[in-house]
Amino acid sequence: MSSVKKNNPPVYLRNVIFVAVLFMLWIFLIFFILPATPPLNLSPVPTTSPTTTVCPEDTGLIYIYDLPPKFNHELLRRCRSLNIYTDMCPYIANQGLGGPTHSALFSDQVNGSNWYATHQFIAEMIFHARLENHRCRTEDATQAEIFYAPFYTGLYASSVFRESELSERDRLAVEFTEFIRQQPAFRRCGGADHFVVTGRTAWDFMRRDDDDQEDFGANRLFMLPEIRKMKVLTVERHPWDGTNQFGIPYPSYFHPWISSDVTIWQEKVRKSHRTHLFSFVGGPRKGLGKAAVREQILQQCGRSNRCLRSKCEPGSVLCYEPGRVLDVMMKSEFCMQPPGDSFTRRSVFDSILAGCIPVFFSEHTAYTQYGWYLPDSWQEYSIFVPKEKWGKIEEELSSVAESVVRNLRTRVIQLIPSLSYVHPNSTEPGLRDAVDVALVKLTEDVRQFSVGRKF
Ligand SMILES: *[C@@H]1O[C@H](CO)[C@@H](O)[C@H](O)[C@H]1NC(C)=O
Ligand SMILES: *[C@@H]1O[C@H](CO)[C@@H](O)[C@H](O)[C@H]1NC(C)=O
Repeated sequence: MSSVKKNNPPVYLRNVIFVAVLFMLWIFLIFFILPATPPLNLSPVPTTSPTTTVCPEDTGLIYIYDLPPKFNHELLRRCRSLNIYTDMCPYIANQGLGGPTHSALFSDQVNGSNWYATHQFIAEMIFHARLENHRCRTEDATQAEIFYAPFYTGLYASSVFRESELSERDRLAVEFTEFIRQQPAFRRCGGADHFVVTGRTAWDFMRRDDDDQEDFGANRLFMLPEIRKMKVLTVERHPWDGTNQFGIPYPSYFHPWISSDVTIWQEKVRKSHRTHLFSFVGGPRKGLGKAAVREQILQQCGRSNRCLRSKCEPGSVLCYEPGRVLDVMMKSEFCMQPPGDSFTRRSVFDSILAGCIPVFFSEHTAYTQYGWYLPDSWQEYSIFVPKEKWGKIEEELSSVAESVVRNLRTRVIQLIPSLSYVHPNSTEPGLRDAVDVALVKLTEDVRQFSVGRKF
């Protein structure tokens, strides 16, 4: 090669000019053309950045039905008579959060707006308020992947508990299915991409007229064919007959605006001085069955100076004032979570919020309920006391190694954000709360379903 170049200088010269021109072109490109094009974006879609209002890719756009007001707002107007035990008016305030609540425990927050005296059966209102402001909401039904019908099912159920005429008790449920059946989007997928939310347990909507069980006021909403095709989000699913039912957390008292609200609180419960081995916030229940263990817990707690007990008597503030409840739980290593009238309890979520390790006596209090939210293995975040050990709860708990307790508590505290309901007026929370988790799971299901239909 080099001998050829030496022998043919003109060719060599031409090569030099050619390279020089190329080089100049290249310089020209770098300085004048490239800067005009946008810089390469190395990080993909910034979905998790707290400064974006873009809907994340794993969440489908959601459409909220504008239901006739008898299914939601009109119920609220009768708040005094919605529940036979409680005047619900204070609890429907602030879009279902209830009234702001104060306690020395909550003083870290710059303003008190993270803490409310939230009713345990009000998740449906909180969900609605949160979704109305959600970044994945669309007003265009043709763009939506998931469809939400904001029927306040739980408030409806409790408002007709005393109705002896069964057809009258079921009336609004039947009217709802008549409404939803006529919607074009419902017909398109047979309802599989639609959901309702209830703040009450599924049992309140699953009356079976053919058996001779005691009538505790349930209606038949979840038995109706249209609802059977939809998804039902409920604080307690029917463990055997609830295949379209998905557990969502009972709302507790903490409704953070931004992620730093959560981290400040997590730090506080992590450092909390836990003076007692265990505690029980709750009362006795009549009858045997699933609540029988309560008697054992009450006896053993009463005998032990390592147990803190909050007696829940009607009218007592000890079990209903958020600050008092959390104070007891923040002083305890373990919190007893026996079943009561139903399998589940709001107290489970209060105890996690307080960093107190929940102790279960039935698998249906959490393990078969909240698959969207809790780790697959219960050993990561809880203690289970099987029936043969109910007589020796304190011994059982004292035998848990200190390192195990530490790991359990770390995991429990990690669960706090995804089990909370962010304040509905927060537009940029920068964390994934209970509503966000539900939307991701609903989206996964809908996308799987549509793939299945295509092939
Ligand atoms: C959210 O903001 C609206 C409009 O300002 C207000 O009416 C509503 O009460 C607020 N919600 C809560 C829970 O504070
Ligand atoms: C205080 O509350 C207001 C709404 O009342 C909210 O917009 C603001 O972010 C809160 N500030 C802090 C620091 O939490």
